[in-house]
Amino acid sequence: MPPRTIRGRCLDPLPGARDVAYLPDAVLEIDENGHISAFGPAPSGCAIPETLPGTVWMPGFVDAHVHFPQTRIVGRSSGALLDWLAQTVFPEEARFADKTYANTVAAEFCRALIASGTTTAAVYGSSHPVATAALFTALDRSHLRATVGLTLMDRAAPPALCLEARQALVAAEALVARWHEHDEGRLRFAVTPRFALSCSEALLEGAGELAARHGLPIQTHLSENHAEIAAVAAAFPGAAHYLDVYAQHGLCTERTVFGHCIHLSDDEWTVMQAAGAAVAHCPDSNFFLGSGVMPLRRTLERGVRVGLGSDVGAGRTFSLRRIAAAAYDAALVCGARVEPAELLWLATLGGAQALGLGDAIGRLAPGYEADVIAVAAPEVDDRAALLDALLFSHSTEPVRNVLVRGRRAV
Ligand code: GUN
Ligand code: ZN
Repeated sequence: MPPRTIRGRCLDPLPGARDVAYLPDAVLEIDENGHISAFGPAPSGCAIPETLPGTVWMPGFVDAHVHFPQTRIVGRSSGALLDWLAQTVFPEEARFADKTYANTVAAEFCRALIASGTTTAAVYGSSHPVATAALFTALDRSHLRATVGLTLMDRAAPPALCLEARQALVAAEALVARWHEHDEGRLRFAVTPRFALSCSEALLEGAGELAARHGLPIQTHLSENHAEIAAVAAAFPGAAHYLDVYAQHGLCTERTVFGHCIHLSDDEWTVMQAAGAAVAHCPDSNFFLGSGVMPLRRTLERGVRVGLGSDVGAGRTFSLRRIAAAAYDAALVCGARVEPAELLWLATLGGAQALGLGDAIGRLAPGYEADVIAVAAPEVDDRAALLDALLFSHSTEPVRNVLVRGRRAV
């Protein structure tokens, strides 16, 4: 790949603060390996023409929590979490036993990520190994970056979706061998128990053991809905609390990303902090399912890493900009406002750090991989107006270019 130089307006997430720097005229150089080799203000008299006028360049978005087999059920309302799972989600996810269907939706899923400017996603795959393999193949061809799991479930769901623990772990092991750290870590495999309710003790134990043996990322749902929490307490009477179910099985680690975390007790937050686990904040999904509001400011103050998740299909959009807007609203509901710059930081570098990728992506600094996007944006001259337009304008401007490791995602 030939080296390339980009000149234009740039937003650069800062490493030491939840903030972004705005450079109204900057030069970004990408080397032949897709790494950023230089970045800084354009020198006076710079002869390089502006690249894609009318856009602003920034690191690609990181979706810290999204469900591949829910691509076609975005915005389907059927009540709160457990009813929505039974009525809307499980029937759709059962279709992924069919490899042809999985291939078709995998292409749609990749297109939706790219159209939204998402360059990295932490994805819940199908519970069907063949469909999760189809997703890996599509992500590889699209040149996206992703962490993908076989969604583990062996109980409390229709038989068409369940895979018995031993079979699931063998299938997961095969996916690790084929895809984990593929293309120098562009694709990774994540151990993905759907949530405590869908897993037997044997499956949770095997999942924890698999994750430890390979040092794999882990993702699951935690404390999203009151009925779910009560059901977990009934199903796991030996656990001190919901998070303890995961902790007991080696699934609460610094490589774990917990989705939602709305109703955690102080004890659970303490366990989470001590483990160094991260949170995927999914505010649009939380509004849509009426799950509640995650206390974002308080979580950040505890020093817990947080990324933003679309949680498609409970989330009604793939756009991390819309998710950031929902996070803004959710923070207001909590009475603890967050800044637009902070939200853009969470949607990029914050998400990268939550997924353990903060040394590789999420900044425009030399040495970082060139996962960058160009988003159409109005010609406003102050940073605040630009951030507001990017995050809160309801007619979201299109994403004009999406590069992963310097190469166009397609
Ligand atoms: N909990 C278990 N499965 C799911 C899911 O697919 N979506 C959400 N939002 N929560 C879950
Ligand atoms: Zn989810």
